Order: sequence, then structure tokens, then C-alpha cells
Amino acid sequence: WVNFAPYVKAINELKKKRNAVILGHNYMTPEIYHGVSDFVGDSLQIAMKAQEVDAEVIVQAGVHFMAETTKILCPEKTVLMPDMEAGCSLAESITADGIEEMRAKYPGAPVVTYVNTTADVKAASDICCTSSNALQIVDALDSDTVIMTPDQYLAQNVANQSKKNIVYWPGSCIVHEQYTAQDLKDFREWNPGTRLIAHPECPPDVVAEADFSGSTSGIIKYVTDEKPEKAMLITECSMASNIADELPEVDFVGPCNMCPYMKKISLEKILYVLHTMENKVEVDEAVAEGARLAVQKMIDMSR
Ligand code: 13P
Ligand code: SF4
Repeated sequence: WVNFAPYVKAINELKKKRNAVILGHNYMTPEIYHGVSDFVGDSLQIAMKAQEVDAEVIVQAGVHFMAETTKILCPEKTVLMPDMEAGCSLAESITADGIEEMRAKYPGAPVVTYVNTTADVKAASDICCTSSNALQIVDALDSDTVIMTPDQYLAQNVANQSKKNIVYWPGSCIVHEQYTAQDLKDFREWNPGTRLIAHPECPPDVVAEADFSGSTSGIIKYVTDEKPEKAMLITECSMASNIADELPEVDFVGPCNMCPYMKKISLEKILYVLHTMENKVEVDEAVAEGARLAVQKMIDMSR
């Protein structure tokens, strides 16, 4: 048992002193999610919130690409990362050269890039997307062929719902790629009546086996609205931990997978960066300008 209270108190006091807010992703552990975050949400909601907050400092309780997106959207604000090593297997799977490779292979096709990428990759793309708006964005583009990078599974899941010809980069999320359709079939057999809810970064046969698929906030909304007796969240472990207390009528069952990158963020590290103001996220303005266009286009299409 760890007593988080002294950290929570110290962080919340320091936030006032620094005129800081903490934007927390839904995969943060409960003490960060409930204890110190001023706003929590999925990748799109966090990016949109970053533009609205009236604070000098934003601490990103999430992974590095999220902090970079915040800095791109709010260049005048100080953006702090509790741990600079909190990366993402998807962001690491592609560089700007990869985008050019895809453009050369499919001339004229627009490039839709997941926000789980570096600023360089965003700048080389036409528009960004998140798991909550990918289908909407792909369908709105004036082209029959669309390039999606870097998540092959998100791309295949979108392709299954769209009339477009979607070509994609072979990246994947190390958390969601581990689930198999057989896992879900076995689980259903052993636990009849359990609602299976999968993130669209899972392979398409896993999504096909699930009862619902959506972004992290989409999953929270589904469980909150439906209140199934038993639910298995086929995604990162903290999701169930964060909502279990508010939904005592739902029994969250089954295994989950941890994201080692998200789990690098801790209260100790948040307190440290607020105290020292170290780990400032910077994005070269020439790159930021291109990346901002791609992110802002996505935000404008999602309102
Ligand atoms: P969303 O919160 O946008 O669903 O993204 C999930 C994720 O893997 C972020 O790293
Ligand atoms: Fe990246 Fe997957 Fe971790 Fe999200 S859960 S940060 S997509 S590795």
C-alpha cells in the first residue's frame, strides 16, 4: 500500500503557484487520473482541451507525442513531460521518410496520420486523426485511395467500415496487438454474458469478435451508458481501474495489458517537473508549423 496523499497535496499546491494544469490521458493510473489531473480524456479531447486552458504551464500526464501535440497547438505555453522516455511503439514505427515512401507508392493519395507520431511525421502528412475520428476524416477526403499511417490495425478497422481503398503503414501498438480473436472467443465461453469492448488499435478479427469498439473515451461512454453486468475492456489496464469506483454495478473482468510507456508517468515525476520546471518540450517552429496545419485540420473537422 502506498500513501499517495502527500504527493497529491504537494502537486495540487504547486500547480496553483506555477499557474499550471495537468492534462491526463485515460491510461494514467488512478492516483494521477483522479488525484491531480485537471482534465482527463482521449487523445482528441486532450488536444482540444490544450487549446482552451488558461494556464502558463501544462504538464502532460501521458506520452511524449501528446506533449508534442500540446506544444504544437500552444507554442506560447510551457509544456512539461514528467518522463521524456515515455514514448509509443506507433510513434517509433515511422519517420517522415516513411510518409514520402508511401506518397511515392500511391501518388496523389492523401496521407492521414494518427496523432501517435512525432511532429516531423505530422508535418509530412496532410491531416491527422485519432481513434475517435479516423473514419469520419477518411470518409470526408476527396479521394478514393487514402494512405493511413502508422497503425495498420486502426487502418484495417477503418477500411472495414469505409468504402475507400485504404493503404497503410505496418506499425502497431504493443499493448493492443497482443490480443487475439481466440482470446476473446475463449473468454466468452468461460464467462458467458460478459460484454467485450475493444480499442480499434486491436487487430480487426479482435474488433470483429467484440461487442463494441471505440476510443478510450468512447469505451468509457459505452460502459457508463450501458452498465453491463460484466465487462472486459480489451485495452490498457488503467482504463478499468479508473472507472470501476464510479460504476459499482459493473464487474470488470478478464486480463488487460499494461502500456510500459504510459506507466513511466508517476506522481513523483509530476511533482519533480513542477518543482524544477525541467523536461520542457520544444518543437522546432518550422516543423511545428506544418504539424499544426495537420492537427488543426483534424480538430476543425471534429467539432
Ligand atoms: P485514444 O485515447 O485516443 O483512444 O488513444 C489510445 C492510445 O493508445 C493513446 O496512446
Ligand atoms: Fe503507444 Fe499503445 Fe502505449 Fe498508446 S497504448 S502509448 S498506442 S504503445
